[in-house]
Amino acid sequence: MARDEIDRRKVLAAGLGLLAAVPPLAALEGKPAGKGKALDPDEGVTAPEDLMKEHGVLNRCLLIYEEGMRRLQAKQEVAPEVFLHTAELVRTFVEQYHEKNEENYIFPEFVKARKLVDLVETLKTQHVAGRKVTAEILRLSQPAQFRVAANRGQLVAACQSFIRMYRPHEAREDTVLFPALRTILDAKQVAALGDRMEEDEHKVLGEEGFEHSVAKVEAIEKQLGIYELGQFTPR
Ligand SMILES: [Fe+2]
Ligand SMILES: [Fe+2]
Repeated sequence: MARDEIDRRKVLAAGLGLLAAVPPLAALEGKPAGKGKALDPDEGVTAPEDLMKEHGVLNRCLLIYEEGMRRLQAKQEVAPEVFLHTAELVRTFVEQYHEKNEENYIFPEFVKARKLVDLVETLKTQHVAGRKVTAEILRLSQPAQFRVAANRGQLVAACQSFIRMYRPHEAREDTVLFPALRTILDAKQVAALGDRMEEDEHKVLGEEGFEHSVAKVEAIEKQLGIYELGQFTPR
C-alpha cells in the first residue's frame, strides 16, 4: 500500500476516533509486527528530539508542583513526598542528566560557532539557579520541615520561582536553540551528538533511563490523582 494511502487512512480514522483500529504501519507494509527483533524506540532519534522528550518529563514535574501548591493554598491534604519525590526526579533526571547533556554537547557548539551566545549564557546561568532552588525544595519538603507552616510558605515560593524560570527556559530551547542546531551542524554531526547523549543516558540513569523517569512521574501523578488525562477535558 502506498504511504500516501496509509496516511490518508490514518487521518480518516483519527477523525472518526478509530485510530486504534488501524493496523500499525509495519503490518500494512507487510512487515512482521511484534515478531523477531524488538524495535528500539531510540533508533534514529536525534539530539533535539531526545531533549524535547526530556522537557516533557520536566513539564510533568512542573504540573505536579502546581497541583501540590494549589492544594497547599486551598488548605487541602497533600503529602510532602509529592514535592520531595518530584524534586528528587528533577535533580537526577533534569539536572544531572538532561542539563549536563545541554552543557556538554549542545551549548559548546553554539559557543564555537559564535551563535546565540547571549542566550546560551542565560540558559547556563539558569541551570545553576535552578539547582539552588531544587536544593531548597528538597530541604523544605523533608517531612519534619514540611510540618512547619512557614516552611510550607517558603516551599510554595520556591516552586513558583522554579516554574517561572523553567517554562520560558525550556520553551526558548525548544523553539530557538534546538532548531538552530541544524544551522551550525550537518545531519551527521547532529546524529553523532545524539549517540553520545544516549551513551551518557545509560551511564547516568542506567538502562531505559527515560522510561523509568516517565514511570516515576506517572506514579506521583497517580498519587495526586492527576494522571487521568481525560479529567481535564472541558465538558
Ligand atoms: Fe536548559
Ligand atoms: Fe533543556
